[in-house]
Amino acid sequence: MKKLVISNKINNYNKTISVDGDKSISIRSLLLGSQSYGICKIKNLPNSEDVLHTINGLRKLGVKITFNNNICSITGNGLGSFKINNKVTIDAGNSGTFARLLLGLLIKGTHKVKLIGDKSLSRRDFLRISEPLQKFGSSFNLNKKGGLPIEIHATELIKPIQYKETRGSAQCKSSVMLAALNSPGNTIIEAKKSRDHTELFFKYLKLPIKIKRKKDFDIIHIKGEKQFRSFKYQIPGDISSSSFFVVLTILSKKSELKIKNVNVNPSRIGFIKIINKMGGKVRIKNKRKVYGEYVADLHIKSQKKIKSINCPVKFNSNAIDEFLIIFLLASKAKGVSKFSNLGELNKKESPRLKLGSNILNMMGIKTVLKDNTLKIYGNPNLKIKKEIKIKNYYKDHRIFMTSVIGGLVLGGKWTIHDVNSYKSSFPSFMNILRKIGFNASYK
Ligand code: S3P
Repeated sequence: MKKLVISNKINNYNKTISVDGDKSISIRSLLLGSQSYGICKIKNLPNSEDVLHTINGLRKLGVKITFNNNICSITGNGLGSFKINNKVTIDAGNSGTFARLLLGLLIKGTHKVKLIGDKSLSRRDFLRISEPLQKFGSSFNLNKKGGLPIEIHATELIKPIQYKETRGSAQCKSSVMLAALNSPGNTIIEAKKSRDHTELFFKYLKLPIKIKRKKDFDIIHIKGEKQFRSFKYQIPGDISSSSFFVVLTILSKKSELKIKNVNVNPSRIGFIKIINKMGGKVRIKNKRKVYGEYVADLHIKSQKKIKSINCPVKFNSNAIDEFLIIFLLASKAKGVSKFSNLGELNKKESPRLKLGSNILNMMGIKTVLKDNTLKIYGNPNLKIKKEIKIKNYYKDHRIFMTSVIGGLVLGGKWTIHDVNSYKSSFPSFMNILRKIGFNASYK
């Protein structure tokens, strides 16, 4: 397989771009569409591999879906209406969100469904999902390490549950929220703060949900078995995908970028707060509410001085997918940055805390990684001269994209393997880079 080679920094640019639709919201829109009554129209759905796995998985469960030019039409037949053949196997590919949320929709019935995924997804923890879901009444067979393949044995005898989510994982919270839809009575979730797209979608659909927002936790009440109608939706741009272009622009010379129509849900903008504390000066403009979610344009300019940060742990969940690119920014900061309590980062598509630290070391940056806390000894004068090889990284899309940005702003010669990795979340990544002046070469 070919490798991407980057040996020149990107030239200065002044551009306006839009990024692909948000991964989290896309997958939720498809899953909820499958449970509605009627035909849903979803616009700006990205043709990322995670979304395609979601569409194909739902089709295998008997849901009619058409998908052309980023417009999706999905015909729902109501709650619990999947048509499931015996011995069906669903392949979730690389998508933790699809795999974990789907299980929530599969608890009720008489079926058995097997769920598989790629090498990266198979090593991830599914006990965090099977444990709460079996309290509803369904049962699970997992592999020995608590990962995939997993088999869910549904039951008709579902009861609502009380669940305490303590990791700050939106996937765990959302899986239980979807299971609550098919359960009689009230499910009560006490969840550590995390992205709240499922809550906002339930509200948009006028489902019976009540949320009491506390300082660190939310208490969510959901009344189940309420059928709902099909809906229209427009997926906003993905702020996590935007983050690569934000840091590219901050670290480039004399450049400016506008990113249009990005989701700026307050539970997702931790990375903008962190980067602005580091001197990034990212501006959020033209903010408005669309289908229950905040959408805005981001304005970014190159910055000469980056400050180090002692990153408050309260931002961890709100910036969980952006830490790799934040670490790259910290490598150019004046002083030592500290990121604490980031054990969850090692449970992503790759062990990101460890691999992120290793990449910085390859770049010549000192790091100390101890007890899930990473210290980065920034160097504002960093100029890489040597060759950096990025391989064996579980094809983690965010490692790929972070490395490309590193190659385009820090110098040196970067050889990056698994050149299709970015397609799981952000299929337009390379095209947008081309638009702002990067001529990729492969060997
Ligand atoms: C997601 C939640 C986060 C995030 C993932 C998408 C979601 O995972 O890392 O990319 O869509 O709910 P956790 O819930 O495991 O933190």
